[in-house]
Amino acid sequence: MRSTGKPRPVTGPLDMKTGAVIARLLRDYVGGQWGLLSLAILCMLFTSVMNGLVPVLVNWEVKQIFIRHKEDWLIPLALMAVGIVALRAASLYFGRATLDSLSERTVAAAQTDMFGSLINRDLAALNAVHSGQFIANFLYDATLMRDALTVGLASVFLESVQLVIFLAYVLISDWQLGLLALIVIPGVAWAMERLGGSIRRAATRGMQDTGDLSTVLSEAMDGRRIIKAYGLEAHSAERVNARLNTRLATLLKVVRLRAAAAPVTDLFAGAMIAMVLLVAGWQNLHGHLTFNAFAGFLTALLLAQQPVRNLSQLWPTVSTGIAAAARIFDAIDARAEIVDRPGAGTLNVAAKAGAVRFDDVSFAYHPDAGPTLKNVTLEVPAGQKVALVGPSGAGKSTIFNLILRFYEADGGTIAIDGQDIQGVTMESLRAAIAIVTQEAILFDESIADNIALGLPGATRAAIEAAARDAAAHDFIMELPEGYDTKVGEGGLKLSGGQRQRIAIARAMLRAAPILLLDEATSALDTTSEARVQEALTRLMKDRTTIVIAHRLSTVVDADRIYVLDQGQVVEMGTHTSLMAGGGLYASLYSHALDEAAS
Ligand SMILES: Nc1ncnc2c1ncn2[C@@H]1O[C@H](COP(=O)(O)OP(=O)(O)OP(=O)(O)O)[C@@H](O)[C@H]1O
Ligand SMILES: [Mg+2]
Repeated sequence: MRSTGKPRPVTGPLDMKTGAVIARLLRDYVGGQWGLLSLAILCMLFTSVMNGLVPVLVNWEVKQIFIRHKEDWLIPLALMAVGIVALRAASLYFGRATLDSLSERTVAAAQTDMFGSLINRDLAALNAVHSGQFIANFLYDATLMRDALTVGLASVFLESVQLVIFLAYVLISDWQLGLLALIVIPGVAWAMERLGGSIRRAATRGMQDTGDLSTVLSEAMDGRRIIKAYGLEAHSAERVNARLNTRLATLLKVVRLRAAAAPVTDLFAGAMIAMVLLVAGWQNLHGHLTFNAFAGFLTALLLAQQPVRNLSQLWPTVSTGIAAAARIFDAIDARAEIVDRPGAGTLNVAAKAGAVRFDDVSFAYHPDAGPTLKNVTLEVPAGQKVALVGPSGAGKSTIFNLILRFYEADGGTIAIDGQDIQGVTMESLRAAIAIVTQEAILFDESIADNIALGLPGATRAAIEAAARDAAAHDFIMELPEGYDTKVGEGGLKLSGGQRQRIAIARAMLRAAPILLLDEATSALDTTSEARVQEALTRLMKDRTTIVIAHRLSTVVDADRIYVLDQGQVVEMGTHTSLMAGGGLYASLYSHALDEAAS
C-alpha cells in the first residue's frame, strides 16, 4: 500500500509500559550524563553524612567540655562546627545545581527531538491537531517530566539506599519479627502501583485538558481583532473559562490521588505496627523477648518506615512524569508518511524548463469522503503561464498541494520534465518550486530575514535586488530601520499589499524554475494592486507558472486556462477560445465583470 499522508493523531493512545518509558528515558536522555548524575548523588550522600555529624559534634561537646572540662577542645569544636556547616552548604549547592541542570538538559534534549520530529511530519498530520495541543505538549509535558526527573533521579535513589540499610538493621535486630514486618512492603508497593496507575491516567487527561485550554487561548489571541470588533470579549472569556473548569476538575482529581499516597502508606504501617505489638507482646508474655531487644527492634522499624513514606510521597510526581514522558516519546516517534522512496533520485530541471504534467490524477482528502480531484489531466509547458480557474471548492489549491507532495495522489501520475514526482527526493522537488500563497506568511523577524527565507544564506545585495524586483524596496527604505525592521507577529506592522510584495520578493530570491501562485482574494487598492501586479509579472518572466487566478487581468494573457469544477477539468483553452465557447468560463467571466461593474 502506498502512503497517502492521511492524518494520524499526533498525541495518540499511550501504549508504552511504565518500565519501558523509564528505561528509554535513562538510556536515551540521562544516558550520556552518568558522570554528572553520580556527582549529584555523591554530593547528596555527602550532605546526609554532614547532617549526621552535627549530633556527633554536640555529643563531643557534652563529653569533652561539660563532663571532662577539657578547655583545649573548645576552639577545635567550634571550628569543626563551622567546617561541617560549610562543607554541607557546598555539597548541598553542588548536588542541587548538578541535579537540576541535568534535568533541564534532559528536558531540552527531549524538546529538541520533539520539535525535530514534529516539523518533519506531513502537513496533513500537522493540520489534524490544533497548534495549541502541540504547544501544550511541548511546554507542559516537558515541565512535568522535569519535575519527575528532579525528584526521581536522586531522591528515589537516596531513599531506596536508606530503606535497604534500615531494613537490614531491622532483620539483624530480630529476624522473625523483621520478616513479619516486611510482609507489608509488597502491600505498600501494590497500593502505590494502583494509585500510580490512576494518577497517570488522570495526569494524561490533565495534559489533554491543558492542550484544549492552550487551543482556545491561542485562538483567542489569533482572533483578537474580530473579538474586539464584534464585542466578543465575554464570549471568548466563557470559552476559556469552560476549558479552565474542565481542566481544574481533572487537576483536583490528581490532587486528591496524590494526597492519598502518604495516608495509604500510613494505614499499612499502622497495620504492621499492630501486628508487631501483638506478636512481640505475646512473645514477651510467653517466652523470651526482653524489653531491650524489643526497643532496639522498634527503633529500627520506625527508622525504616520513614523512607517508605517518603518514597510513596515521591511516587505521584514520578508517575505524572512518566505519563508526560510517554506522551513526549509518542510525539518523538511520530514519523512523516510521505517520505522519499528508496532510491529516489534528484529532480533535474534545466534553466527555463520545468514542464508540469498531471496524468489522470485522482485524489481524496479522506478515504470515506468523495474524491476532491477526479481524473485530472493538465499540461503546463515549460516557461509558459497556465491559469487555473473555477468556482470556490473546485480543487485549485488541492492541485498545488499535490505538486508540492503535501499529499500523495491516489491515482495517476504527476511529472515534472518527465520525471514522476513520487520518484524524486522531496528536497529536490521543493527546491525547484517557489510558491506565493493567498495570505502572505511572514514571521516576526526583520524584513531582510523574511525575504531570505526564500534562499537561506542569501547576501544582503541579493535580498535588496529581489526586493527591488518585487517593488518593495522603496517602502522598505521608508521604514524606520529599513531592511532591519521587525514586521511584528504575522507581519502585522505592514499593510496587506506590503506583506504580499515581501512574499513575492522571497519567491524572487528563490529563483526556482517553477512558480505556484495562489492570488490573494482580498482586494488591494488600485495603486497597491498595480504594484503587486507589476512585481508578479517580473516574477513570472522566464518561469513556468501555474496561477490560481482570482483577477481577470491575470487570466486574459495566460497561455492556457484550465477551468475546474467539482474536481474535474471541464474546459481548457485561451481566454479568447473559452469566451467563444460560451461555457462555464464565459459565464464566470461575465459574472465577474458584472460584479466589478456594480
Ligand atoms: N485539508 C483538507 N482536508 C479536507 N478537505 C479539504 C482540505 N482542503 C480542501 N478540502 C476540500 O477539498 C475541496 C477542494 O478544496 P480546494 O481548496 O482545492 O478548493 P479551491 O478550488 O482552491 O477553492 P477556493 O477558490 O475557494 O480557494 C473543497 O471541497 C474542500 O472542502
Ligand atoms: Mg484555494
